[in-house]
Amino acid sequence: MQLNLLVVAGDGIGPEVTREAIAVMQTVMNAGGHSLAVTEKRIGGIAIDTDGTPLPQDTLEAALASDAVFLGAVGGTKWNALPPNTRPEAGLLQLRAALEGFANLRPAFSIAELASNSPLKLDIVSGADILFVRELLGGLYFGAPREWNKHTGEAWNTMRYTRDEIIRVARIAFELAQKRNKKLTSVDKANVLEVSQLWRATVTEVAKDYPDVTLEHQLVDSMAMLIMTSPRNYDVVLTENLFGDILSDESAVITGSLGMLPSATIGGKVNLYEPIHGSAPDIAGKSIANPLGAILTGALVLRHSAGLEAEAAAIETAVRKVLEAGYRTTDLARGNTTDFKVLSTTEIGAKVRETVAATL
Ligand code: NAD
Ligand code: IPM
Ligand code: MN
Repeated sequence: MQLNLLVVAGDGIGPEVTREAIAVMQTVMNAGGHSLAVTEKRIGGIAIDTDGTPLPQDTLEAALASDAVFLGAVGGTKWNALPPNTRPEAGLLQLRAALEGFANLRPAFSIAELASNSPLKLDIVSGADILFVRELLGGLYFGAPREWNKHTGEAWNTMRYTRDEIIRVARIAFELAQKRNKKLTSVDKANVLEVSQLWRATVTEVAKDYPDVTLEHQLVDSMAMLIMTSPRNYDVVLTENLFGDILSDESAVITGSLGMLPSATIGGKVNLYEPIHGSAPDIAGKSIANPLGAILTGALVLRHSAGLEAEAAAIETAVRKVLEAGYRTTDLARGNTTDFKVLSTTEIGAKVRETVAATL
């Protein structure tokens, strides 16, 4: 098969980790007689500098014409003073809205080889395997009205959801739970917010169509604690946009680094794939960024947009083998340095390619 992939590498470490992810995908697809046709376009800060807008028209058109879109990361200190609607991040939000994917799947898992990397105790993290289903097109990110009124010194955003927006993302979460351990935890703030009361009532109603899945509701504040004290209690976690943003970064603690976690956004016209981390301005340009989250995101592209399950699994296995062999990026190099070898972004990418190639 041929997959037409639009790559928007973006800013900071975005291009560094994306390069490694694409190279791994190419290796795997070529070995299987498939082809990955890559088109590259600008997004984010780099697009502001060259095109005057964070999402140029030709990027948007290429995205809508592609089979799938792969994003590195956007943003950086250079553009931090801009208002929200012209910042690099606005380009990403416009892209998400245009592609219409509303279900952002964010796995957070413990990897045996990295379990000692987590600040959490081994008996708490080992075996943890959570799948966040983060609603991606609603809530505070997109609700109107929104404004910062400089004259009155007030600012407001609107957390808004419709019943239909909740139903469609809940259905995806329940279907995923049916294929996993049949447990779904819906996270809200129904003790305070009307929008969360609608969320809870709607999810409870949708649950009637999935009697084999156990549904529980949890308030977001206590969930932030529970996910650290008992991550193994959770299977699929369904939540709204901002809560999902926060809880998924927090859950990177289970794996050991934000640089390890992938995501896939499904349900719209074109799927969007992005590691969950940002542009990491503090380490950009040093070739020390961890590309494994981006590489695992590449596996999700093969699984969800190319139907290549065995190839996707081969990438995931290769990542584990590279860690098992003792290779680490700087963010994973905690503890006794004689136990492992610290590699650069490009070196660990090459190790994954060699390892996966040997299994194909
Ligand atoms: P960040 O995720 O960029 O970085 C947080 C911390 O994690 C930093 O210390 C960073 O060095 C580390 N880190 C992140 N990814 C890593 C990797 N692959 N390897 C090793 N270490 C890694 O979050 P931030 O610092 O809060 O945000 C920086 C910029 O990124 C902001 O402009 C923000 O808006 C943007 N951002 C973009 C995306 C995206 O494009 N999808 C996601 C999150 C943040
Ligand atoms: C993420 C990021 C984005 C978000 C920003 C950059 C718009 O934090 O993908 O998690 O908040 O969704
Ligand atoms: Mn985030």
